[in-house]
Amino acid sequence: MSIREKQVPVITVDGPSGSGKGTICQLLARELGWELLDSGALYRLTALAARHHGVALEDVEALEVLAAHLDVQFRPADEGQEMQIVLEGEEVTHAIRNERVGEDASVIAALGPVRAALLNRQRDFARAPGLVADGRDMGTVVFPSAELKIYLDASAEERAQRRYKQLISKEPGASLDDILNDIKARDARDMNRVVAPLKPAPDAVRLDTTRMSIEAVLQAVLDEARHRGLR
Ligand code: DC
Repeated sequence: MSIREKQVPVITVDGPSGSGKGTICQLLARELGWELLDSGALYRLTALAARHHGVALEDVEALEVLAAHLDVQFRPADEGQEMQIVLEGEEVTHAIRNERVGEDASVIAALGPVRAALLNRQRDFARAPGLVADGRDMGTVVFPSAELKIYLDASAEERAQRRYKQLISKEPGASLDDILNDIKARDARDMNRVVAPLKPAPDAVRLDTTRMSIEAVLQAVLDEARHRGLR
């Protein structure tokens, strides 16, 4: 564990796709004025870089090298704008969000050497006054001594509905059944992998967001932060 991790307060938010982590982490970081780590973006960026460089998803050594040397910049958002992500000089903020990149990222994320190569890069995000870390293993592996660990969950059906609503304006042919099947397959891969599987840390506060509004989830997390003297 780095000295930096010990000095800077960290709130980790883990959970499966569609549990609301991304939205909650953005709102939380803004509310607290803290840094934000979107760790899934690093796996997605490695997947995209692999495509750009023609690296096969089976080539673990080459993927490890790619992950270790990922040339990426996270450009902070202006008020009301989203953060820009630049990979090897190219703006890829939206490109990394497509389903195919997500699928590849899930495969790559099961590889121990890739996870190890991204570990210190993730810890380097811990900067004053604090860090909100969004991912799958933030509380279990990357920031095990975080001041507050949250685990968000929701039923697969609810998560598929949320994804469908996001997608349908961009992809009118999107199918709810396909999305549900993809979500279940990705859950299985993320939860059953040998290295850093998706699971709540023993000391995590667990929230089922199936029937909760975003505002209610944010409030619950802020209450937990207040109890711990983090705001
Ligand atoms: O949160 P996301 O959909 O952007 O994540 C993309 C993939 O990366 C997802 O399949 C899970 C994986 N991931 C991971 O294994 N560990 C993390 N800390 C973050 C994401």
